[in-house]
Amino acid sequence: MLNTQPHPQPEPVPFVQPKTEQINSGLDHRHLLGLSDYSSREIELILETARQFRDVLNRPIKRVPTLRGVTVVNLFFEASTRTRISFELAEKRLSADTVNFSASGSSVSKGESLKDTAQNIEAMKIDMVVLRHQSPGASHFLTQCVDSIVINAGDGAHEHPTQALLDMLTLSDHFDVFKGLNVSIIGDITHSRVARSNIHGLLTLGANVTICGPRPLIPIELDRISSKGSLRVTHSLESALEGCDVAMALRIQMERQGQNLFPSVREYHTQFGIQMDHLNRYKDLIVMHPGPVNRGVELASEVVDHERAVILNQVTNGVAVRMAVLYLLSGQNSTE
Ligand code: CP
Repeated sequence: MLNTQPHPQPEPVPFVQPKTEQINSGLDHRHLLGLSDYSSREIELILETARQFRDVLNRPIKRVPTLRGVTVVNLFFEASTRTRISFELAEKRLSADTVNFSASGSSVSKGESLKDTAQNIEAMKIDMVVLRHQSPGASHFLTQCVDSIVINAGDGAHEHPTQALLDMLTLSDHFDVFKGLNVSIIGDITHSRVARSNIHGLLTLGANVTICGPRPLIPIELDRISSKGSLRVTHSLESALEGCDVAMALRIQMERQGQNLFPSVREYHTQFGIQMDHLNRYKDLIVMHPGPVNRGVELASEVVDHERAVILNQVTNGVAVRMAVLYLLSGQNSTE
């Protein structure tokens, strides 16, 4: 006999308001376009809020009603696995209505511009846009075309702020303070939005940052990226790892291999790839990577799988950080 009784629904788990008043309330920005102009107070507020959302994610029912009634569109003009899925999960965990847009299969293929695409989607009554785009500055541009709150999910080689925030949350799981922490960022700095956002965020919080890579992959205008704190450049991996607490390896963008930025992938791995020998010599070194990893290029395959590589912890923290960003930017201060 068919049971037509409704399934008992679990009671919604009440969301405990983050204790953000201890740090100060709210963000000073309407959008998250980058970390270059976010203060240490704002970054700390996002990290503290993310820690509280992480508690929600560890519950049996990983959902709170915080963004009920809020509509978020994930506008992705470029490929993504981690950022896209974790934004979507974060939105669902917050009970927002979510819509996913991919440039492929959309009217972009018929020549529709970013502005027209966004304005047409906004005409369907949305509140927030998460944008990944291949052009630096695309998210700034979007704020001039729409009234919705804009979150930059990576714009060309400019910034990827939520990646840097999840990196900083992961660092805070291993170290008590950022001040004086030695972080080496290794790889293709010139084309890396992850490097830029991390440089801004880490220097703002008082960490010492070393940039390391082949000369063609280090921007000559590095002093213009940030003048906030201790930023050092080296072209020697040994120098970057000596005394370093965290090595953050960046993806070598294989699509740029035709530009002769370094002799070969094998040579890059020999000179700048982190190997088991480095983990054996630097016993406290922690290894990070934003993904996707080219195994055997930036990191030896055994290093990727090593317990001191926290790559999957970074991915896990991505959901909580994006929940925190969505929550704080939405201006919601009540779950009622
Ligand atoms: N780290 C990162 O941005 O990965 P995806 O390109 O897969 O989103």
